[in-house]
Amino acid sequence: MRVKRFVGIGLILLAVVLLLFLIGTGGKKEKTPKQEEKKENIVIGFSQLGAESDWRSANTQSMLAAFTAANGYELIYDDGQQSQTKQITAIRRFIQQDVDYIVLAPVTENGWDIVLQEARDAGIPVIIVDRQVNVSDQSLYTAWVGSDFELEGKKLVAWLHEYTISQGISAEELNIVNLQGTLGATAQIGRTKGLEDAVEMYGWNLLAEEPADFTQTKGREVMARLLKNYDNINVVYCENDNSAIGAIEAIEAAGKKAGNDIKAGEIMVISFDGVNAKALSYVLDGRISCIAECNPLHGPRVQQIIEVLEAGKTPDKQFYVSEKIYSAIDTFLQVPVDGIKFDVTIITEKDISEK
Ligand code: AHR
Repeated sequence: MRVKRFVGIGLILLAVVLLLFLIGTGGKKEKTPKQEEKKENIVIGFSQLGAESDWRSANTQSMLAAFTAANGYELIYDDGQQSQTKQITAIRRFIQQDVDYIVLAPVTENGWDIVLQEARDAGIPVIIVDRQVNVSDQSLYTAWVGSDFELEGKKLVAWLHEYTISQGISAEELNIVNLQGTLGATAQIGRTKGLEDAVEMYGWNLLAEEPADFTQTKGREVMARLLKNYDNINVVYCENDNSAIGAIEAIEAAGKKAGNDIKAGEIMVISFDGVNAKALSYVLDGRISCIAECNPLHGPRVQQIIEVLEAGKTPDKQFYVSEKIYSAIDTFLQVPVDGIKFDVTIITEKDISEK
C-alpha cells in the first residue's frame, strides 16, 4: 500500500516536471545549434562546369562572393572538370544532402532530363546559369540567367562586316577559320551559328572550324595546325579570349603578325568575353581587333532569383544579360544587328586598368 502511494506521488511529480518543461519550450522540440544554423542559412548546391577560362574563374568568384554565410547562405561548390557525368553525380549528391536550391552551370545542353526530374521529385528547385539545358519539359528547371550567345556571334560578325566595308575589302577576300568552344555548349552553338549565318549571307570563305574547348592550350595547338594546312588565313574567329590568346601565340610562333591590317598580310583575330586583362590589352595594341563581351557576373543575379522564390513569388523564366562590343578601331561606332544598332565601346588604358 505504502509502495503504491510512493509510485503514485513519483508519477505526479514526473508529470509536473514534464509540463513545466513543455511550457518553457513552447511545446517545440529543442534544436541543437547545428540544426538551428541549417535552418537559418539557405543551402545552395552549385555545380560549376569547370575552370577552363578566365571567364569561368570570374564567374565562380561571382557565385562564391554572392552566396556567403554573411549573406545568409551555405554554398556547397562542386567543380565538374568539363564532365557532364561528374556534374550529374554532384547534383545527385546535392539531392541526398537535401539542399534548398541547386544551381547548375551545364557544360553542354543535352542529357539533363533524368537528373533534373530527380531534383524535381525531391522538391528542390533548379536554377540554370550561363549555358542552357535542352530538356523536353521546360518546367524541369525554375529559371535561367545568362548570355544571348547567338546575339554575341551576330554582333561580332556585324562588326567584321562593317570593318570590311570601311576598308574596301570584298567578301571573297576573307578566308576565315573558327576556333570553336566545347562542342554542344550553348556558347559554342550560338557563336558558331552567328558566324555560319554570316558566311552564308555575305559569301565569305570559311576554311575550317575546329573545337578549341575555350582554352589557351587548345587554341594554340589548333591554330598551329591550321596555319600549316592553310597559307591564306586572314581572319581567326575565336569563340573565347583564352583560345584567342593561344591562337595569337601560334600566329607569332609561325612568324606571322596578328593585327587589323588584312590588306598588308596581317591575320585579324576576333573573339568573345572581354574579362581577361591580357585580351583587352591585345585589343589596345591591335592583336585582337574586336571582342563581343560575355558577362560572367551572375552571382548577384542568381541570388536575386532565389530571393524572389523565398518571397513566394515567381521569377522570370529566362533572363538575358546585356553586353557590349569592344574594339580600338574608331572608324565606326555602331553596328547593325537585326535592325538594332549596337554601340562599339572603344577600349582605353583606363578600361583595362579598371578590369
Ligand atoms: O559559357 C560561357 C563561355 O564559357 C565563355 O565565353 C568562355 O570563356 C567560357 O569558358
